[in-house]
Amino acid sequence: MALEVFHKDETLQMRRKLIGQSCRLFFSHDPVKIMRARGQYLYDENGMQYLDCISNVQHVGHCHPSITQAAAAQMDLLYSNTRFLHDNIVLYANRLAATLPKKLCVFYFVNSGSEANDLALRLARQYTRHQDVIVLDYAYHGHLTSLIDISPYKFRKLEGQKEWVHVAPLPDTYHGIYREDHLDPGQAYADTVKSLIEEAHKKGRKISSFFAESLPSVGGQIIFPTGYCKRVAESVHEAGGVYVADEIQTGFGRVGSHFWAFQLQGEDFCPDIVTMGKPMGNGHPIACVATTEEIADAFTANGVEYFNTFGGNPVSCAIGLALLDVIEKEDLRGNAVRVGGHLKQLLLQLQIKHPLVGDVRGVGLFIGMEIVKDRVSRKPATEEAAHLVRRLKEERIVISTDGPWDSVIKFKPPMCFSIEDAERVSTCIDQILGGTHILVALESGAVFLVCRVDYEFWRKQELRVIPYGYNNLHSCCQLPRQSHGLHISSPVGTK
Ligand SMILES: Cc1ncc(COP(=O)(O)O)c(C=O)c1O
Repeated sequence: MALEVFHKDETLQMRRKLIGQSCRLFFSHDPVKIMRARGQYLYDENGMQYLDCISNVQHVGHCHPSITQAAAAQMDLLYSNTRFLHDNIVLYANRLAATLPKKLCVFYFVNSGSEANDLALRLARQYTRHQDVIVLDYAYHGHLTSLIDISPYKFRKLEGQKEWVHVAPLPDTYHGIYREDHLDPGQAYADTVKSLIEEAHKKGRKISSFFAESLPSVGGQIIFPTGYCKRVAESVHEAGGVYVADEIQTGFGRVGSHFWAFQLQGEDFCPDIVTMGKPMGNGHPIACVATTEEIADAFTANGVEYFNTFGGNPVSCAIGLALLDVIEKEDLRGNAVRVGGHLKQLLLQLQIKHPLVGDVRGVGLFIGMEIVKDRVSRKPATEEAAHLVRRLKEERIVISTDGPWDSVIKFKPPMCFSIEDAERVSTCIDQILGGTHILVALESGAVFLVCRVDYEFWRKQELRVIPYGYNNLHSCCQLPRQSHGLHISSPVGTK
């Protein structure tokens, strides 16, 4: 079936002319034109299949038939706004409530993650009557003006930090101020938030809220140390503020063991506001804020109606309900545990083998693999990570990077990702990092060794040498073209 209206080059030209250039494409140097998709696979204009490792919005798989049918059936019946009484919105709120702790029992439906976070900000300020917000370094919470202000990832490149915003260190135990060898990084990082609150109080400022993703994704696929959230919540509550958990990327079972990522912090931690979006409608724009009765009552008490034209309409809610059914029927949380666990193990094996892989972290199908120049300095290897992404695309695997230095290869695939997919991607990474199998002769006295060589590094006059059949990481080293008395000859063949 010919789905293309324009030839790829023409589409690209028109897009460059008609669409604001700050709306960037994936692989902007050589974009892929995707015409259709199913499950975890994308198909380009020539019918070429790509494995999708990053579409966390298409949560239960691209174009899932149950979602399409639910949407079509409800669109054929009624597509009204939420001021008309309808069953879907209450059915849906009821189903969501069953996934959350009891105290989070009031819902507001909106159309995007940004709208959800903007509303959370209003709720927090109305309830606490305070203005200031604490956020984590490198965080991103949305594209509205209010959210750019609380997103260091963005405001650092723009007008800078507002006086009512306080930035806490990212609890990153790989790069951060407290690392994996600290006795209690959860407490240590929570103390940094406490200190920020004290400093703000000294300036006469008052904290309305602490905003954080339950697993910071833009920050580099970070897993909070144990006890962090609970202790932060204690300090924030003491200051009269509320804890807002941004679950826009992490919710709906992505972590496998739990429905919400904040639940990884234990049953004794519960946020006051939870925002959700991306995976909620499998691509359809629906998002939501869940909060407590007290916070909702305070918001109502201001006497101003909250009206959102499209939020929670019967079609969006029908889609949301269908998505929850699919997660359960197809045991996608179980799949995230099994496949995510397997993928993480495979990546950990790559970490043993390839010195460029500095860290592998994650839970369920939320995994990051950090590429570093060397393991001692942990210096981010941005260029090498970009090279890996480009090479994987050539292997028809769509993946991208995250983190402050774009050095973390992120895996957030549709939840139907399979064991075979995990093995395919890890094998490709292994081959790319292991080199392009160019055979070189190493002259060491009279001895010749045949090695695997990463051609990119060879070209940069730096050679990563891994003797065949020797997987011990200590055997990997970076050598200039001539060192240790070895003369390294030009490539003599390929395998
Ligand atoms: C953590 C987080 N919060 C909020 C948003 C904003 O969501 P949206 O793009 O749906 O407005 C995003 C989007 O990338 C996000 O990653």
